[in-house]
Amino acid sequence: MRQHVNPLSRSFNQIERIPSLSEMFADSKLNLHLDIGCAAGDFLFDLALVNTSWNYLGIEIREKLVKNAKLKVLEGEIKNLYFIFGNANNILNDIQSKLIIKNLKSISFNFPDPWFKKRHCKRRVIQPELINILSNLLQKDTLIFIKTDVKDLFDYMESTISNNFYFKKIDKKDFNYSMSFNPNKVKTNREKYVIVNQLDIFESIYIKI
Ligand SMILES: C[S@@+](CC[C@H](N)C(=O)[O-])C[C@H]1O[C@@H](n2cnc3c(N)ncnc32)[C@H](O)[C@@H]1O
Repeated sequence: MRQHVNPLSRSFNQIERIPSLSEMFADSKLNLHLDIGCAAGDFLFDLALVNTSWNYLGIEIREKLVKNAKLKVLEGEIKNLYFIFGNANNILNDIQSKLIIKNLKSISFNFPDPWFKKRHCKRRVIQPELINILSNLLQKDTLIFIKTDVKDLFDYMESTISNNFYFKKIDKKDFNYSMSFNPNKVKTNREKYVIVNQLDIFESIYIKI
C-alpha cells in the first residue's frame, strides 16, 4: 500500500457524511477521544477493548485502512469505536464536525506527519487554521496530546498551538493519566517502533482554556 497521500489533493474536499454520536456508539453519552491520523487504528482498538467507559473515534486519510478498520469493528462487535475516512483538516472545518464535539474530552496527534520538508509544510495536519478551528469548536478543558520523534516537527507543532491564545501547555509531570483516554499508556505502532529503535520521543499536552 502507498504510504503517503497528499492531503491537499482536491479528492479530499468532498467529505463523507458524519453520523451522529448515537449512530456511531452504543452509549453516546460516554466521554469521547478523537485520534487524528490513526492509520489502521490498532492503537484505538487496543484502547477501546480495555476502556469500555470511553468512546473512541479515529480519522484517517488512507481510505483502505479505514475500510479495513470499519470491517474489524463490525466483526468484533465493538460498540465504542468508530472510524471516519478523510482529511482531518477538511472534516473538522465542516459544519458536521459539530456533531462529534459533544462529550469530546481529548484529541491526539500521534506521530502525525510524514511532511518534514519546508516546501511540504502546507501538507502537515497541524496548521494555524486547524488550531483556530479547534479553538472555536472545542469546549473548555478539552485536551490535545501531541507526540512525534521529529524534533523540528515537534517545535513546529508546539509553536503553532502555543500561538493560539486559547490553548495552554500542561506540565506532563502533573498529568494524571489514570483519568484520561489512555490510563494504561498504551503505545501506538509508530511509538513502539521508535522505542525499539531507541529514538527520541517529544510530547506535550495542551488544555483548552
Ligand atoms: C506516521 S503515521 C502515524 C500513525 C499512528 N498515529 C501511529 O502513531 O502509529 C501518520 C498517519 O496520519 C495520517 N494522516 C496524515 N495527514 C492526515 C490528515 N490530514 N488527515 C487524516 N489523516 C492524516 C497518515 O495517512 C498516516 O496514517
